[in-house]
Amino acid sequence: MYILESRKVSKHFGGLKAVDQVDMQVEKGEIFGIIGPNGAGKTTFFNLCAGTYPVTSGEILFNGANTTNKPPHEMARLGLARTFQNIKLFDYMTVEENIAVGFHIHTRTNVFDAVLHTRRYKNDEALIRERTAEILEFVGLTPYAKVKASNLSYGIQRKVEIARALVLKPSLLLLDEPAAGMNPSETQELLTFVRKLNADGYTIVVIEHDMKFIMNLCDRILVLNYGKKICEGTPEVVKNNAAVAEAYFGKGLAVNGGNADA
Ligand SMILES: Nc1ncnc2c1ncn2[C@@H]1O[C@H](COP(=O)(O)OP(=O)(O)OP(=O)(O)O)[C@@H](O)[C@H]1O
Ligand SMILES: [Mg+2]
Repeated sequence: MYILESRKVSKHFGGLKAVDQVDMQVEKGEIFGIIGPNGAGKTTFFNLCAGTYPVTSGEILFNGANTTNKPPHEMARLGLARTFQNIKLFDYMTVEENIAVGFHIHTRTNVFDAVLHTRRYKNDEALIRERTAEILEFVGLTPYAKVKASNLSYGIQRKVEIARALVLKPSLLLLDEPAAGMNPSETQELLTFVRKLNADGYTIVVIEHDMKFIMNLCDRILVLNYGKKICEGTPEVVKNNAAVAEAYFGKGLAVNGGNADA
């Protein structure tokens, strides 16, 4: 059984086939990469897996159960967490507050509880504090707990986003371009961090444009182009695939030396 599987999944926006009949199988415990040129359909594919968009056709299975078109909060409760291509932190909130925000879909607190300060609300608040502290420690952000998000370096902001995704104790993490905008040392640190998460039991699917990062990190990689899967395999296989070279560098280059035997 796969932790995440897509079967001939498509998403059309009007006449545009943003995701076109994509099959994917992610094994529990692996680091799985998704690459492809701008507009290839990577983020849209994540949105289908996470329930953010309904599929046009096809099926999504999470831990063997058919989860096609289940809403995001339900996917989150089932153990699928994701981060976004654009950082979505609240600038005016501290690191610990930003992480605590991730609980709202997880805890049973509703608006009435919060207003009336019922016992359930108080229990949840204690739980949130405890879990937030635990996560801060785990990801090494405890020293930043009281710092406002707007005062953090880009690399740390990205880390806070990932930390927030962990509050639900997910089994699967979808990371959309976590290294975007990072300098080389931040990227290297992120690589180590993602490996640590994986060693700790998280299965990871990561979209990234940074080839060195993805090739060094992933067990297997899926390549999308114009919504279609054009290649899938180990970093070695993907590096040496002519269709991938062509998608990135154009036909001429792919034939004349863009091919990865070189
Ligand atoms: N909500 C939407 N409505 C209409 N078209 C969309 C929508 N979301 C994405 N698209 C289109 O679908 C295609 C795939 O976009 P997507 O964002 O999934 O690509 P991507 O591979 O993540 O690209 P990038 O590497 O630039 O992030 C693009 O042509 C995009 O313009
Ligand atoms: Mg994208």
